[in-house]
Amino acid sequence: MSKPENSIRFILDDRVISLDFTDGGDIRPDTSLLHYLRITGHKSVKEGCGEGDCGACTVVIAKVKDAKLTYQAINSCLVFLPMIHGCQVITTENLSYMQDGKLQLHPVQQALVDHHGSQCGYCTPGIVMSLFALWKNHSHITPSLVKKRLAGNLCRCTGYQPIIDAIVDQSGKARHDLLNDSAEKIADELDAIHKESGDIHISAKDILYIKPASLRNALIMREKHPDAIVISGASDIAVAVNKNKQHINAYLDISSLNELKSIRSNEGHLSLGSCVSIEDMGEAVKDDFPALFEMITVFGSHQIRNLATAGGNIASASPIGDLLPVLMVYECEVELQDRERKRALPLEQFISGYHSTLMREDELITAFALPYAGKNVIIRSYKVSKRKDVDISTVSAAFLLSMDKDEMIEKVKLFFGGMAATTVRAGEAEKYLTGKKWTEELAVQASLIIRDEFKPISDARSSDENRKIIAGNLLIRFWEDTAKTS
Ligand SMILES: Cc1cc2nc3c(=O)[nH]c(=O)nc-3n(C[C@H](O)[C@H](O)[C@H](O)COP(=O)(O)OP(=O)(O)OC[C@H]3O[C@@H](n4cnc5c(N)ncnc54)[C@H](O)[C@@H]3O)c2cc1C
Ligand code: FES
Ligand code: FES
Repeated sequence: MSKPENSIRFILDDRVISLDFTDGGDIRPDTSLLHYLRITGHKSVKEGCGEGDCGACTVVIAKVKDAKLTYQAINSCLVFLPMIHGCQVITTENLSYMQDGKLQLHPVQQALVDHHGSQCGYCTPGIVMSLFALWKNHSHITPSLVKKRLAGNLCRCTGYQPIIDAIVDQSGKARHDLLNDSAEKIADELDAIHKESGDIHISAKDILYIKPASLRNALIMREKHPDAIVISGASDIAVAVNKNKQHINAYLDISSLNELKSIRSNEGHLSLGSCVSIEDMGEAVKDDFPALFEMITVFGSHQIRNLATAGGNIASASPIGDLLPVLMVYECEVELQDRERKRALPLEQFISGYHSTLMREDELITAFALPYAGKNVIIRSYKVSKRKDVDISTVSAAFLLSMDKDEMIEKVKLFFGGMAATTVRAGEAEKYLTGKKWTEELAVQASLIIRDEFKPISDARSSDENRKIIAGNLLIRFWEDTAKTS
């Protein structure tokens, strides 16, 4: 390994910034991008919640992919500064410019003005950045696409209609802005940063922050620093640090390892790297794993899905991790690697308890594999939460059903989240259903068994009794959905 660097480089305001954390200033390796932007004068970027819910801190990150820039809206409150090494950061300050003494607004900003969509000063900059990313990535813009992209930008004053009208009006129009002019130069500069970069080891303000340049080096560091907290998208960890004031002494940041971002269709299964973002995963699974895609559409917001990874969801082993029931129903295998070896475990076995897994402290989750389901298998997923968007589950579920040649249930799997300390399977109900004909009456009987199978907790989201009723009712909903399609 060559000598690691102790600083990071990124582009902001069209300049390459080199940030040294050891120079005695206030900036720490766990300082959020939001905080950094505000103290460097980007006051349009606001802190609303500090935990990924409101979107007031939304900025756009540009990265080089296939020699071109890609633009993603993210929550800057959930990003630790070293995560933006090798990226361009764009805020509303970078969208407009002065010409002949007159302010020239970006087409997205002008559209908002024209449609009276510029509302309160707290949320509008974040809304502009979400719309800017949408405008950059899509020439055809529909109201339903806008609603999906704005789910993570909360407005509690006026509503969204003028905003939707403004951006839909841009559909099909020319996509020229100030950033186009500098895109080639920025891509070259980011490329140069990547080519010159090796491992980054920052040791400052009582924090060790390691950002390896390769998987091999990441595994060496994992063995050497088993107590370092691994971060992929940091959407769980940054909330713990920013909101719950957890102090973490050492980080192992694997967020930019391209080796963990591959998506490959192999014989019989789809293999996804553990650092593939949930948004990219959605695109990859849309056709062949529709129940997983459905769950992804109600996972956090677009900004969260751009950061969060399935590797993080699996490693967190939360009882309300939304991907777990549906990944289990698809018989997902988790691939683990240490310096010497690789091994694979069924996800159902890998999750060993409340927030605990069978991962050893020298291992990383490197990938997971999803076998393609057979043609005669029916799989559905469900999420029940207080709000449809950006909310955690009260109860989630994923079900699998296949029939034999006599139309009797041959195979059934019923997984639930939110009903126990881990993702759980309704074994009694599965036994009851197997070998019988799939009818509404049978589903109702099995739903009563499900209600009695679990002892969920009561909390702010729901009482235990309500959770039991929801879990049972989801099976009846499954019957209705399958009756519609059969
Ligand atoms: C506003 C908001 C909305 C959210 N909405 C949802 C939702 O709808 N559904 C849901 O399920 N979750 C939701 N979450 C939680 C979170 O986004 C997910 O759990 C996400 O999948 C975590 O992925 P990450 O890459 O960001 O994990 P990180 O925060 O980077 O890591 C999470 C944990 O996994 C470990 N880890 C990460 N990657 C690896 C790896 N490759 N190998 C070993 N260990 C690893 C870390 O050490 C840490 O313990 C939400 C979070 C926020 C802030
Ligand atoms: S401050 Fe609310 S999402 Fe970041
Ligand atoms: S735009 Fe800020 S609350 Fe409505």
